[in-house]
Amino acid sequence: MTNGEHAITGADVDWDAAAASFDDEPDHGLRDPDVRRAWASRLRSWLPEPASDVLDLGCGTGSLSLLAAEQGHRVTGVDRSPAMVGVARAKLAGRDAAFLVGDAAAPAVGEERFDVVLVRHVLWALPDPARVLRHWAGLLRPRGRLVLVEGVWGRVSPVGIPADRLTGLLAPLAGQVRVERLSDDEALWGKAVDDERYAVLAGI
Ligand SMILES: C[S@@+](CC[C@H](N)C(=O)[O-])C[C@H]1O[C@@H](n2cnc3c(N)ncnc32)[C@H](O)[C@@H]1O
Repeated sequence: MTNGEHAITGADVDWDAAAASFDDEPDHGLRDPDVRRAWASRLRSWLPEPASDVLDLGCGTGSLSLLAAEQGHRVTGVDRSPAMVGVARAKLAGRDAAFLVGDAAAPAVGEERFDVVLVRHVLWALPDPARVLRHWAGLLRPRGRLVLVEGVWGRVSPVGIPADRLTGLLAPLAGQVRVERLSDDEALWGKAVDDERYAVLAGI
């Protein structure tokens, strides 16, 4: 991600300050019905049937959590930013969902295990992604899956994690790894994009 000239790393961002306007981006707030429909459709194809337990790490304002809950899944969201968690709790009030303030790299979920660990636009900014992926794999039930939506943003000083690197990190952990390219689907972003955007589905 860039702010025009400078590459932004996750550590640079004050996510509490960003929370109030985070949903203004089409793919964050999913306020445009076409964008919302596009993400709902992808999510439906990525999540298992029947309804399952989904752990949304770095959940932000809970937009993907809400789509998952609307599709019948039980959601636990974790984010380090109390302001983000506040927005997510309000967005999913009355749903089968719980939100914790904490570290996505080592969420405080105790002995609980999940069918899906869902992570969008978070892994790239975490230190030691190989160690984090091992930990996330250990949070899954047998036949659970990682659903990782990531990318590489910016041309001059790109930041992010390329799909090839992520699949390499997953190779020792996952039985099946599938990459779904997302850059060409304008409906997901509310505009045309020319950088690398993708989802990785990894069966553990
Ligand atoms: C680009 S936003 C993505 C939010 C959400 N996943 C989405 O796609 O709408 C990154 C989020 O990750 C959170 N985050 C960054 N580092 C984190 C960490 N170590 N533990 C938990 N949350 C973290 C930020 O607070 C922010 O809400």
